[in-house]
Order: sequence, then C-alpha cells, then structure tokens
Amino acid sequence: MKNYRIAVLPGDGIGKDVTDAAMKVLDAVGFSDKAEYTWGDIGWEFWCKEGNPLPERTIELLKQSDCALFSAITSKPKEEAERELVLELHGKGLVYFSPIVKLRQLFDLYVNLRPCKAYPGNPLNYRDDLDLVVFRENTEGLYVGIEWHPVPEAIMKAMIDNHQKAIRFKGDNLDDIAISTRIFTRKGVQRILKASMDYAIKYGYPTVTVVEKPNVIRETSGLMIREARKLAKKYGDLELWETNIDAMAMWLVKNPQQYGVLVSSNMFGDIVSDLCAQLIGGLGFACSGNIGENFAVFEPTHGSAPKYIGMNKVNPIAQILAAKMMLDWLGEKEMAEKIDKAVEAVIAEGKYRTYDLGGDTTTSEMADAICEKIKEL
Ligand code: NAI
Ligand code: MG
Repeated sequence: MKNYRIAVLPGDGIGKDVTDAAMKVLDAVGFSDKAEYTWGDIGWEFWCKEGNPLPERTIELLKQSDCALFSAITSKPKEEAERELVLELHGKGLVYFSPIVKLRQLFDLYVNLRPCKAYPGNPLNYRDDLDLVVFRENTEGLYVGIEWHPVPEAIMKAMIDNHQKAIRFKGDNLDDIAISTRIFTRKGVQRILKASMDYAIKYGYPTVTVVEKPNVIRETSGLMIREARKLAKKYGDLELWETNIDAMAMWLVKNPQQYGVLVSSNMFGDIVSDLCAQLIGGLGFACSGNIGENFAVFEPTHGSAPKYIGMNKVNPIAQILAAKMMLDWLGEKEMAEKIDKAVEAVIAEGKYRTYDLGGDTTTSEMADAICEKIKEL
C-alpha cells in the first residue's frame, strides 16, 4: 500500500525537464516508494487541442490526490490564444483562463507560501545569511478581478451617495474612469495571518512582519493590521512587526537579514515575494506552495521559459525545492531535510552550476549531483 497519492502536472515548456529532475530527487530520498504518482494534463497544449487548459479529468485527478506537484504553463494574449486553437474549436466562444488561478479558487488555496532561503556559496545571492518566508494571501484583494471600465452608472451613483470623497467624480464620463476593487474579508485576513504565525512558531522564526499600508489604505490594510494585533496576542513571544510595503522594499535592500516571516495581501505579497526571491538567486531557486485546508499545489515561481524547451538547460532547483516543500507539508520532515542539505552541499561546493549560475551543468546533471549528495547523507 502506498501512503500518498500525488498528482504530477509538468505543464508546458521547461516544465517537463524540471519535473523529471524533481522526480529523480524524490526517488533518491525514498519518497517514491511511498507514493503513487499520476501524471495530469494541464496547460497550453490542452488549450490548443481541447480548448481547455485545465481539463475536467485533471480536476477529478486532483480531487483524488493528496496534493499536486505542478511545474509551469505557457499563456499568451487573447488573439494568439484564439489563433492557436485547433480549427474545429474556432468561433465557439472559448476563452483562455489561467489554470493555476482557477486551481487556487477551486480548492480555496488561500496561502501562497514562498520560502526564500539563501544557500551559501550561490553566486547570485544578495547575501548568504538570508532566510525569509513570504505568506501571500492568494484568494482576495486586487486579484479577485471585480473591476469596471466603463464604470456602470449604478456603481458610480452608489459611490457618490455613500462616500464623500467620490463626489469629485460626479458628472465625469463613465468611460473615462476605471475601477479595480481591493476586497479583504475578516475571514480572509485572519486565516492568512494565522497560517503565518503558526509557521513562525513551528519553524522557530522570532518575528512576523505584516507588510501593508494602513496609513493610506485605511480600511483594507487597516483590517489586516487590526486582526494581526489581536491574533499576535495569542502567540506569546512571537514579535509582530508592522512595515509599510514601500518601506519594506527599502528595508529588504538595506537589511534583509533582519527579517523572518512576512505576511501580506495578494498584490503586495506578490511584489514582495519577487523581491525576496531575487535576493536568494532568482527564478532558478524560487519555489512556492498554494496551500488550503486539505489540499495543496507546489510549484516553482518561474514560467515555462519557452526559449529553453527541450534543451535540458535550466536550473531545476526551484522545482526540486517545490518538491521539498511538498514533503514538508505531507509531514515527511526527514526526507525534506535531506533535499535541503543536498542542495546546500551542491551549491556550497560550486562544482555543478547551471547557466544561470554561470556554469554549463545541465538540468539532469544538476539533479544527479543532488541525488548523489542525498546518498552520501
Ligand atoms: P519565465 O519564468 O518562463 O522565464 C523568464 C526567464 O527566466 C527565462 O527566459 C530564463 O532566462 C529565466 N528562467 C526561468 N526559469 C528558469 C530556471 N528554472 N532556471 C534558469 N533560468 C530560468 O517567464 P516568461 O518568459 O515571462 O514567461 C514564459 C511563459 O511562462 C509565458 O507563457 C508565461 O505566461 C508563463 N508563465 C507561467 C507561470 C506559471 O506557470 N506559474 C509563471 C510565469 C510565467
Ligand atoms: Mg509574480
């Protein structure tokens, strides 16, 4: 009997190369003995062939799995999306959507977790002593997509009737105004804050920094800060720091080593996590988890890098670290730690370096080097 059912979704482009690399590493730590893998269809290929980048059968597969290891998909602008559809599907009103955004909504994966730990010796590190973990709210805020342009009259009227500051727009042409909403719910902010604080306690980080802008965006950022203060009282010694998003960008350049866990809303969290990822080596190292109550999807932050398709060239470490996060989430701490130690050793040694690190090690050679280290541990 296998203990885990894992959906493997390589997607498009370099997704296949880096997924192969991660699977080798999962074999090397012994996880594959405990897991049943099922490969699933996702991405551009299925949009072009079937008019659906996330086929129903893949959703069914995910529902029957404990979690998913995803890689990357290709997406293109509207006109190209229509053009690349097989001829039979033209003119049927099919519209491309982002499968990963859909998965987040479908499975209520409200945490976007992005650990950004520097492996000493990585020539791309900003500093070697960084260990940042970003919690980005994944389901609300500016990314919900409740937007208007032109603004419907009823919305405009409701704003003017209900908000003193909206009076300045009275009489403006509705086509000359665009509105994007930033909606936070108490439940939404509470659960991302709780996830970040639980994590800080579990992994021994002394601080959680809420990254918002409550002095200007008083209601949404304000709700988050107020809830953070309330919740932090339950976490004893854990220190709650509050930093504005703009200042945070500055502090992350000046003193990133002083920070531990960061928590933020969808948009600010997206920005701050890209900044943190670059501090520890960028796309070749940046991994993430989309995590809900009972399901999770782990992935590298990078995309499908079409120019490197089939070249066995890119750095597989981000995907390998996504697999490591998956093991952590499943409670396989020892295996996760082995991957961490092996990556650390390979980077410290500096013998194997993919092109982004200034070397010519291939994707599969990098995976092999990490597997060798695992055997030595
Ligand atoms: P990208 O992340 O695919 O690649 C940008 C550049 O970063 C690459 O050309 C390469 O130089 C470098 N890079 C990426 N991954 C690397 C790795 N593992 N090792 C070394 N270098 C690496 O972003 P881009 O070019 O903007 O998008 C390409 C496609 O990927 C687009 O169709 C885009 O929509 C999609 N995409 C998908 C994402 C996802 O699946 N979650 C996220 C970002 C982009
Ligand atoms: Mg981003």
